[in-house]
Amino acid sequence: MIKFSLSTSFPAQSANEYLLILVAAEQVPQATAAYQIKDLDRILDATQFKAGLNESLSLVANVAECAHSALIGLGKVEELQPAKLAKIAQSIIKSSQKKFKQISIDLSALPSELHYVFALSLTQAAYAFDEFKSKKNEFNLEQINLIAKESSLTADQLQLIEAVQSGQNMARDLGNRPGNICFPEYLAEQAQALAAEFPDLLKVTILDEAQMAELGMGAFLAVSQGSDRPGRIISLEYQAQRDEAPVVLVGKGITFDTGGISLKPGLGMDEMKFDMCGSASVLGTMRALCEARLPIHVVGTIAAAENMPSGKATRPGDIVTSMSGQTIEILNTDAEGRLVLCDTLTYVKRFNPALVIDIATLTGACVVALGSVLTGMFSPDDELAAELEAAGQTAFDRVWRMPVIDDYQEQLDSPFADIGNIGGPKAGSVTAACFLQRFTRDYRWAHLDIAGTAWNSGSNKGATGRPVPLLMQFLAQRAGHNG
Ligand code: BES
Ligand code: MN
Ligand code: ZN
Repeated sequence: MIKFSLSTSFPAQSANEYLLILVAAEQVPQATAAYQIKDLDRILDATQFKAGLNESLSLVANVAECAHSALIGLGKVEELQPAKLAKIAQSIIKSSQKKFKQISIDLSALPSELHYVFALSLTQAAYAFDEFKSKKNEFNLEQINLIAKESSLTADQLQLIEAVQSGQNMARDLGNRPGNICFPEYLAEQAQALAAEFPDLLKVTILDEAQMAELGMGAFLAVSQGSDRPGRIISLEYQAQRDEAPVVLVGKGITFDTGGISLKPGLGMDEMKFDMCGSASVLGTMRALCEARLPIHVVGTIAAAENMPSGKATRPGDIVTSMSGQTIEILNTDAEGRLVLCDTLTYVKRFNPALVIDIATLTGACVVALGSVLTGMFSPDDELAAELEAAGQTAFDRVWRMPVIDDYQEQLDSPFADIGNIGGPKAGSVTAACFLQRFTRDYRWAHLDIAGTAWNSGSNKGATGRPVPLLMQFLAQRAGHNG
């Protein structure tokens, strides 16, 4: 965890520190004027340092009594974007994490509206997951002092950044833990532990399979019946604002998705441990809410199950009755996310939600459509969609609106039941959203398909903790109206 402080000038303090000064191209003398760096012109001339993007220059002489200091290039300020700042944040963390407990970064050259995203990027770059490594990462960095003559950052925002960091790290840890450790009962324990940590703010409710059967959740149970690990529906209620209807967050929590009898191919199947990242983002957001103590009412509900093939597993063609009463022909047992979600979306009606947002690693088709840059956002509600888009921009955790319109519904027709659970090869992420829409007609609703954004594959494989920053930004905006 990184702690932040903010000051307007370099505080005269410990000499054994690292000072980084961000400098824009062609603005080096201006950016460094406050530090009166000796022989600056000669150094710039000798090193040909141009302050290009992520170009760095270590200074040998002491600057402001710091034994270590460096200039970090931003390139042209007009061309700066959050994605470039994230790269700079990564280099800064990489170069300082082992050697320093504390660093200072002078942000004065950075436009004020980018300070929030830059600080968030530093926290994201500082994350590492070595729980199962015998040799742990060396990481000593604890404190970053931000220096800026002027900044849009307030004390509230610094607190929000730390809360988002903590929630996002939790989501990443949960996502990265494998299916033999992180299974439905484990997620329930995590929720209970969180509620025990914040007893004045959180209330936890957990449904077991017998209770789900009583509620008529035939769709949820059709998924979890194939596994030896029983499913759970876990709700955390955060009530820091009494008299308002809650925002309800619903997370897909498939702790491992083999596909069931419609078994997935073997290559890359390990990544299906990440199929609970929606629920991890809900838990992470609940933690962040508690730490930031936002004045708001939120319920986080997790649909936790494991999708396995077995003698008890659902067969393709099986027909089940959902809690809503609609019957479903399960044509493909690998389209399991919508099955656990549809009953959970019916169940959360009991909280009388102001609105519901579900977060799910729902479709490979969404990865094809948007890759790993943007989360797919589906909502029939223009106002809610616009709020989510804005929050995503602010937190640099962006979404792209996709359609949910009735014209796609006929792809879900079944000859035997009210609805089939797959919509054919076309528009797979849209028909999945249309399936969910059938269960969400009674409240304002948005669906976030995070299949492409919840984790990275390849050499930096791991959970990203998205969309915790987006959800917290969205909730902070709403809480702002509560004061
Ligand atoms: N969890 C997967 C979706 C997924 C696949 C996310 C790959 C990220 C990467 C989901 O349960 C699934 O298997 N969806 C199927 C649906 C299909 C059978 C209609 C898919 O996308 O192939
Ligand atoms: Mn699946
Ligand atoms: Zn899945």
